[in-house]
Amino acid sequence: MKIETFELERTQSLWENRVKYNLTESGIHPYSLEELLDRDEMEKLLSLRLGYGQTNGSEELREAISRLYPGTDLDNVLVTSGSAEANFIAIWTYLNPGDELILMVPNYMQIWGIARSFGITIKPFHLKEELNWGPDLEELKNQISSRTKMIAVCNPNNPTGAVLSEEAMKEIVHLAEEADVLVYSDEIYRGAELAGEETPTFLGMYDKAIACAGLSKAYALPGLRMGWLVGPKKMIEKAWASRDYTSISSGILSNYVATLALQPELREKILSRNRRFLRENLAVLEEWLGKYNNLFSLIPPQAGGVAFPRYDMEINSTELATKIMQEKSVFIAAGDLFGMDHYLRIGIGSEKDYFTAGLSLIDETLQEIIHKYSG
Ligand SMILES: Cc1ncc(COP(=O)(O)O)c(C=O)c1O
Repeated sequence: MKIETFELERTQSLWENRVKYNLTESGIHPYSLEELLDRDEMEKLLSLRLGYGQTNGSEELREAISRLYPGTDLDNVLVTSGSAEANFIAIWTYLNPGDELILMVPNYMQIWGIARSFGITIKPFHLKEELNWGPDLEELKNQISSRTKMIAVCNPNNPTGAVLSEEAMKEIVHLAEEADVLVYSDEIYRGAELAGEETPTFLGMYDKAIACAGLSKAYALPGLRMGWLVGPKKMIEKAWASRDYTSISSGILSNYVATLALQPELREKILSRNRRFLRENLAVLEEWLGKYNNLFSLIPPQAGGVAFPRYDMEINSTELATKIMQEKSVFIAAGDLFGMDHYLRIGIGSEKDYFTAGLSLIDETLQEIIHKYSG
């Protein structure tokens, strides 16, 4: 089997723990257990038997997850080891070699790579900067064929931070309904809105919608490795059967902590702390980009832990990001990792002091490049 390199994850795996300032993270400064749990909860955690637990997720956890999706109950939910496993299982279970998958791009390129390794044809439809990172729905419509089995979106989107409008969601559902295809929605950034309402889910809009999400991003708990799939019961049952072959179950400690994190009061506390981090750092970033006059342009993210500015310099994004990392030990993601040169993806979820210090270290290198390359 030919497995293409997942460039973003590979690059992050190599460098994220070796640099002084990692600004490639798309989530938010992670919680410690101490910050999250009270004494009784901590004692309960310590007394847990380290068994497998219920392999599709405990009833309490699946109930807590199902509360986030209208019209669902615990049997609509499969808990997975991170959303990455949810994405893997979904593509593996619901599609066949030779099928076509229409994928929103830019995107977290995991689905792209998995599907291609299984012999599924990917057809992109684009979020466009000139549409304020809105989707080109005409392009989506034109991509649908008799071989199409799934339309996959990432909403809120990684890397642009864009959120689909209600009309766009309705139109995607309408096109999927007409063609009788699945809508697969990676909603891992739902809950990390910088302002305004929580992003609506595709669940409940269409009976062939499946959502993926987890606790790694909006909830700042990536170390729990907690993700899930929510969808029609028969499809979730099928995904559970696939999961018997992948990781069997998630860690029982994570299952316990995740159940607590999703209780309404703690969930609200977590999400509002995280939104504050994002808002504060976006303001810092906008001020910093502003210093460079018109060199950068940014459509501010509506949700999620990253900003995706474009720059106007004749230097390739990988070259630029590498130079910054080598000279200043500040790690930012090159647009190339998303197939989009002349963009940078900057994580805005870290602690403010760390974020500010990382950005100011970049200044010297940038000044030097500006003299050399400004176009
Ligand atoms: C859109 C998207 N989906 C899934 C994942 C994987 O997340 P997890 O840590 O839950 O496996 C990521 C990670 O960056 C992501 O950006």
